[in-house]
Amino acid sequence: MQKPKIAVLTGAGISAESGIKTFRDADGLWEGHDVMEVASPEGWHRNRNLVLDFYNQRRKQLKTVAPNAAHHSLVRLEEKFDVTIITQNVDDLHERAGSANIIHLHGELRKVRSTANPSLIYEWEEDCVEGDTCEQGAQLRPHIVWFGEAVPEIERAAALMPIVERVIIVGTSMQVYPAAGLIHYAPRFAPIHYVDPRPAAIDWTGPLEIIPEPATQGLDALVHRLLDS
Ligand SMILES: NC(=O)c1ccc[n+]([C@@H]2O[C@H](COP(=O)([O-])OP(=O)(O)OC[C@H]3O[C@@H](n4cnc5c(N)ncnc54)[C@H](O)[C@@H]3O)[C@@H](O)[C@H]2O)c1
Repeated sequence: MQKPKIAVLTGAGISAESGIKTFRDADGLWEGHDVMEVASPEGWHRNRNLVLDFYNQRRKQLKTVAPNAAHHSLVRLEEKFDVTIITQNVDDLHERAGSANIIHLHGELRKVRSTANPSLIYEWEEDCVEGDTCEQGAQLRPHIVWFGEAVPEIERAAALMPIVERVIIVGTSMQVYPAAGLIHYAPRFAPIHYVDPRPAAIDWTGPLEIIPEPATQGLDALVHRLLDS
């Protein structure tokens, strides 16, 4: 028998208890930087070194953190459900926890790509600096979707939503589009469970359960309940 499908939309909040800061909780600053400085094509053209250094620091930080109980709860959910994680996060904590199906809407810290040919994407563990080039000789950049750039993975995510029977949202302020709009592709009567200590208003006329708790606590209880149901 096929397992029922669940889409889990995650944001920076699910990694907060692993020690990776969200930026909306820090007055729009991402680790002390204006996001437009480090996460926009304009910022990249203004100061490549600053942007490369910023993501080098974020990549280094990954080596000092670990998945938390919330990431692990989502792996347990696979015992009974066909789970796809659709994450806005650029960290690798869902992978390291062991989730099987992960769509990274906003890219991945552990990859870089060519500035000349976006299909040339490379796994990258160490620092990426000015002068590091792709096989065609063009500068490499972080494999991150910056503000104002297209979100290629949104199509794969949107195609999944109409066939899920339930949606879980964890640790996102639902401010960043097109990610925040994905719920509108879900079936009209699909239940949505939203775990976030400071939940945003959600425009959903189907069943909606708000769980105003940190991800570790809120997901543990929710996942137990869904596995027991
Ligand atoms: N870990 C990461 O990969 C990371 C971290 C920061 C920013 N970003 C990038 O910035 C974009 C948006 O980031 P953002 O920080 O505004 O995320 P966001 O818009 O998803 O907002 C963070 C949300 O997390 C909630 N939150 C805080 N602590 C929580 C906890 N313990 N449990 C559950 N929820 C908690 C907050 O209430 C808030 O609603 C992301 O799409 C990503 O590209 C990524």
